[in-house]
Amino acid sequence: MFIRRQLLLAAGAIAAAAAVVPVRAEETVKVGLIVPMTGGQASTGKQIDNAIKLYMQQKGDTVAGKKIEIILRDDAAVPDNTKRIAQELIVNEKVNIIAGFGVTPAALAAAPLATQAKVPEIVMAAGTSIITERSPYIVRTSFTLPQSSTIVGDWAVKNGIKKVATLTSDYAPGNDALASFKEHFVAGGGEIVEEVKVPLANPDFAPFLQRMKDSKPDAMFVFVPAGQGGNFMKQYAERGLDKSGIRVIGPGDVMDDDLLNNMGDAALGAVTAHLYSAAHPSQTNKEFVAAYKKAFNNRPGFMAVGGYDGIHLIYEALKKTGGDVTGDKLIAAMKGMKWESPRGPISIDPETRDIVQNIYIRKVEKVDGELYNVEFATFEAVKDPGKTKK
Ligand code: PHB
Repeated sequence: MFIRRQLLLAAGAIAAAAAVVPVRAEETVKVGLIVPMTGGQASTGKQIDNAIKLYMQQKGDTVAGKKIEIILRDDAAVPDNTKRIAQELIVNEKVNIIAGFGVTPAALAAAPLATQAKVPEIVMAAGTSIITERSPYIVRTSFTLPQSSTIVGDWAVKNGIKKVATLTSDYAPGNDALASFKEHFVAGGGEIVEEVKVPLANPDFAPFLQRMKDSKPDAMFVFVPAGQGGNFMKQYAERGLDKSGIRVIGPGDVMDDDLLNNMGDAALGAVTAHLYSAAHPSQTNKEFVAAYKKAFNNRPGFMAVGGYDGIHLIYEALKKTGGDVTGDKLIAAMKGMKWESPRGPISIDPETRDIVQNIYIRKVEKVDGELYNVEFATFEAVKDPGKTKK
């Protein structure tokens, strides 16, 4: 009798152990993080990767009873790589979510795969307006170029800038920035005196800068993607555009906080509109900047914030679904979500799945011996103007 009971208990224990194994496997939520870690856009990938690591250190790596596993892959911002990697992560690694996407072509390349597999695609960096329309599984925590370029266009006409030369990176977000700036600036009576587009990869700005200088504008509207602002400002200063009084205006990408402090005094006075400044004076941001600096010895820029908010969105959606990773349930949970980001209050538009956020106008100033984008005007809860037009 005693032996029989022991045997039964042992059998029960084995059955219980066997039952535990498959459940354990399902208790991991896999997030495929596809970002450029090498090449010209590497600073974007590094900021996003850092911010996600920081968030997970602060909040732990378990949510709704599930362990979060980040699988980091470098696509070098080449869309063919993005597509191959996304496919591999979805089919072989069985990731539940794909995230990252340092440039627009990468975000677009993954969109059909997200739709087909019903896997959420969290865009943490890319900023062309149309991205969220390419799949019902896309949610964006970064920004759109029209959000800030329209605002800087209005600001320029109201602040005595009459003639502008434009220099934009020759691909989708550059074209979005240019079109939305022009629409507002020209409607307000401004004149575009020179327009140049520079290649995305390894741009040499020098030949274009001479043309800019010769066209004698009051200001120069610049869009270059994150990571290129330092090189641009170096050539701007070398060609003496700062001395000619041609001020830089634009969306804030060119004045990215991770590069700004090394740009030197040529950057002083640049006015840009953007979603994030490391100098944003909220308690949430002060804590975020201090923790990021402590962990990585550098200032966070706007790409870091896109990553930090992107992983927050994933955590909160999982809490709402009780750990259910079904794509449709996660997307439904993300729609309409609101929270306090280091950048200020943000939400996900339930109709477009795009980010709604404050846009700040900022001026580069020296604060305690360091260069910062100091915010001086706020436009609250800005939706993507690129969509409301349609
Ligand atoms: C983009 O490719 O969408 C992109 C990349 C970097 C930026 C802005 C937009 O700073």
